[in-house]
Amino acid sequence: MSKTFWEDRWENLQIGWDIGQVSPPIAEYINQLENKALKILIPGCGNAYEAEFLHKKGFTNVSIVDISIKAIDSFIKRYPNFPKQNIIHSDFFEIDGQYDLIIEQTFFCAINPSLRKKYVQKMITLLKPKGKLIGLLFNTEFSGGPPFGGDKDEYFNLFENDFTIKTMEKAYNSIKPREDRELFIILEKK
Ligand SMILES: C[S@@+](CC[C@H](N)C(=O)[O-])C[C@H]1O[C@@H](n2cnc3c(N)ncnc32)[C@H](O)[C@@H]1O
Repeated sequence: MSKTFWEDRWENLQIGWDIGQVSPPIAEYINQLENKALKILIPGCGNAYEAEFLHKKGFTNVSIVDISIKAIDSFIKRYPNFPKQNIIHSDFFEIDGQYDLIIEQTFFCAINPSLRKKYVQKMITLLKPKGKLIGLLFNTEFSGGPPFGGDKDEYFNLFENDFTIKTMEKAYNSIKPREDRELFIILEKK
């Protein structure tokens, strides 16, 4: 999917993926974090409800990235209190940095499946030793795409060489429309 594709989706407000809140499984994970200084990244952030949630809870080192300037503008308009220096307008595959934690919320399903190995390798370069990738992956197939789906076996095979798979289980607290169709993941960089 090109940058133009995503700009057009934002321009025309074709943002059916936007659930208007932090997904409950991710909120629950964040709620048990104690270290507010963790360096956290939210890729393909869109309206970045997770960033707002983290910022309001006192996390001081959260960055967000989106390829679409309209997505970034939408977030800034929605939540102007977020530190501007932590907002990255870029292709995820071109950013640098080293993070303790990366939060996945409908970014993986937005990229073409041919880029999934590249996604894993990029996550590895962006995570500190023992850094974690957490969040949600769709456990279902879609016709066409994006979103692009998959299943647990596929994801296990994709991540197991580079990550210790701490959790990859059906989420029990998904929002209703995604019930039984999401896997919650906690993957630790090997
Ligand atoms: C399905 S949306 C999800 C947005 C948000 N995470 C949510 O759940 O509401 C995917 C987002 O990823 C962004 N995106 C797509 N490809 C990207 C890339 N290569 N680098 C950074 N952002 C990208 C799009 O602009 C879009 O905002």
